[in-house]
Order: sequence, then structure tokens, then C-alpha cells
Amino acid sequence: MNKITNNGFILIVDDNPTNLSVLCEALNSEGFRFRVAVDGESAIAQAERNQPELILLDVQMPGIDGFETCYRLKANPVTQNIPIIFTTALADTESKTKGFSLGAVDYIPKPFAQEEVIARVRVHLQLKQLTESLEQQVSDRTKALQQAQVKLVQQEKLSTLGELVAGIGHEINNPINFISSNISPLQEHIAAVTELLLLYEQEYPNPTAKITTTIDDLNINFVLEDMGKILNSLKLGSERIRNLSNSLRNFCRSDRDTKISANLHQGLDSTLMILQHRFKANGDRPRIEVIKNYGVLPDINCYIGQMNQVFMNILANAVDAVDEAITQGKMNNLIPQIKIATEIDSEEFVVIRIADNGIGIPERLKKRLFEPLFTTKVVGKGTGLGLSIAYQIVVEKHEGLLEVNSQLGLGTEFIIKIPT
Ligand SMILES: Nc1ncnc2c1ncn2[C@@H]1O[C@H](COP(=O)(O)OP(=O)(O)OP(=O)(O)O)[C@@H](O)[C@H]1O
Ligand SMILES: [Mg+2]
Repeated sequence: MNKITNNGFILIVDDNPTNLSVLCEALNSEGFRFRVAVDGESAIAQAERNQPELILLDVQMPGIDGFETCYRLKANPVTQNIPIIFTTALADTESKTKGFSLGAVDYIPKPFAQEEVIARVRVHLQLKQLTESLEQQVSDRTKALQQAQVKLVQQEKLSTLGELVAGIGHEINNPINFISSNISPLQEHIAAVTELLLLYEQEYPNPTAKITTTIDDLNINFVLEDMGKILNSLKLGSERIRNLSNSLRNFCRSDRDTKISANLHQGLDSTLMILQHRFKANGDRPRIEVIKNYGVLPDINCYIGQMNQVFMNILANAVDAVDEAITQGKMNNLIPQIKIATEIDSEEFVVIRIADNGIGIPERLKKRLFEPLFTTKVVGKGTGLGLSIAYQIVVEKHEGLLEVNSQLGLGTEFIIKIPT
């Protein structure tokens, strides 16, 4: 490990030609690449332009001295991680201590012993490389861990929630079928009984007193009219429950292993149906208007249950964004809106745009949105996983793209692109 990798080099900073030539010769003899600066200012400029692997820094120089040079290098984020070894004739303890306290890693006294220079340079290059590879490993592992965590949560969320919801959808299905399939015969029976009553009235225009009183008490005309209305609302209600049950079962289509050919519009509609309660007016907020602008889409080979999860996460964020805009009084009396548009683009991708006119996203946060656990919401409201799960599903599982456009205070648009 004594050779410097790639284009790496050592920077020697010294104003004394004799010292320079000793150091250059020592490094040369071992095949180290190096460059030279003869004062502090130019050393800093060089190091900023092109970061050396190591700096050998003289203390006494014209212009700013080695200590000041070291101080400035350590204060600059671009150069602060370059190890610095002081080279100086000042052997007193105070100078050494000062050098170390400024962040130097070592100290080589003059006059130089060639072997010592080489040995120290070698040790510090090795240390730097080890540190860098350790940092890289830690960062790689952290990333891998975070991704594994997201995957676990996603699977758990999907499987427990999915099974529960699909189960409920299924359980509702049977009873609602009893109800809705019996409404029509009931309607017919009632019509038949009504007809019979009218017929009695016609054939026996003068019933007994007991019957006349009962008819008066019953308000029979109202009852006959109201019965029809009741039946109609039963029909409407059971139809809605049946749609909801279908949506629940659609939403949770189990597709853990294989892609299936699916209708994304149906997925979007199921998701909207499940989120319906969140669009309703609540407290200070008026109802959120959902505007659909669906193009013509072919069925897409995908994990539809997971795609529904993506729609759900993005739509839920859109509702939160609108709520937040209203809480902060930034809606300017606009109607809260969520727009969903679909199309096939020129590159044969299915494009789904989900836009809200909510709070928007500050520029500085945009690049962090898809990070696992990144959230701006209060504890308990957001876990910061919604978008990272969506990203994983769209980009990794479907080889698609997930993009965001946003203007602070005006709204946000998420664009999902899936290859056809
Ligand atoms: N439509 C949007 N408008 C404004 N900000 C948004 C929007 N969507 C996402 N964000 C921002 O991105 C952050 C991350 O979103 P993400 O869905 O990953 O997590 P979350 O919503 O905070 O929590 P959860 O895990 O419950 O979804 C949010 O906290 C919010 O700041
Ligand atoms: Mg979210």
C-alpha cells in the first residue's frame, strides 16, 4: 500500500531548496508522486484545486507560516481531511504541541533522515486509506441497512394491512350480496301487494268500520309512497358497499411473486375509493376536489397491489399537503384539489401524474424526499417511509421513474413512469 492510488500525490511545502531536494529525493526513491509549493498561500490554492493524499508542511516560511497554513487548510471543508505532517527544525515541545492541536497528524524533525521520512509518509498514507475505506464501508452498510428496513416495513405493512383489508372486503361481500340480491324480488312483492290493496279498494269501496279506521291510522298513501323511496335508498346503499368491497379486494390483490397484467385506472379508482373519507370536508377544510383526467392505457404488466400502495402513499401525502396549507392559512380561498392524469408518453412509458395545490416543498428538501425516514411531519403523523417505499416499488421493482415538481406555497406534482 505504499504507492499512491490513481492520480494521488503528496504535496511538499517548503521554501528552502536544500530541504526540498532532500524530500523530493526521498519520495522519488520510493516511487511516490509529489508536487511542490514554496509558500503557504500557494500550498492552500493548490490543495483546494487538487486534493493531495498528504501534505508535508514546513513551519517557518515567508508569508503565512506553517501553523497558519495548517489552520486554514483545516478550516476549509474541501481540504480539512488531508493529513498534514509538519517538517521543521523547531524541536521544542511547544511547537510540536501547537502543530498537533491544529490538526497535524505527525511531525518530522530536520535535518531529515531519509528512512524516517519514508516510514512516516508510508504509515500516514496507509492510515488515510484505511480510514477512507472504513468510512465508505460504514456508509455502504448504513445505506444497505436502511433499505432492508424499508423493505421489511413495506412487506409487513403490505401483508398485514393487505390481508386485513382483503379479508374485510371478502367478508362484506357475502352479506351485501344477500341484501342487494333480495331487493329486487322484495320490490316486486311489494308492488304485487300494493296492487292487491288497490284492487280490494276498487272491488269493496265500502269496507267495515274497523278497516276504515286502520287505513286512516296507517296513512296508507304515505306508507305506499315511502316504501318505494326506502327501497331505492337500500339499493343505492348496498350498491356503494358492494363497490367498496370490490375496491378493497382489488386494492389488495396479492401479487408478491409475479407480475400480472392489470388495469392501472382500476387500481387508482380502488385507491381513491378507499381514501374517500380523507377527501371529505373536515373542520376548517372544505371537501377536496378530485379531478381525473385519464388517457387511454393498455393493461400493464406489474405488481398491481404494490402499485396501489404507491398511489395510496402519494395521494395520502397530497391530502396532508392540502391540510397543512389550510392549517397555515396559505390556501388563499382556493378549493383544495388533487388532479390525477394518465397518458402514454413518446417513449412508451405509462405516465401517472398526481398533483395537489397544497403547501409545496422547499427546494432544499427536494433531494431528501425519497430518503427512508425523512419526514417533516410530527411524531405519530408521519414515519417518513411513504415515499421511499414508493420509490423502491416504482424504480427498483418496475424499472420506472419517480419524479417530483413542486413550488413552495403553490403545490406539488409527483410523476410516476412505468415501462409498458
Ligand atoms: N405532496 C406533497 N406536498 C408537500 N410535501 C410533501 C408531499 N409529499 C411528500 N412531502 C414531504 O415529503 C416528506 C416525506 O414523505 P413520506 O411520504 O416519505 O413520509 P411522511 O408522509 O412524512 O410519513 P409516512 O411514512 O406516514 O408516509 C413529508 O414529510 C413531506 O414533508
Ligand atoms: Mg407519506
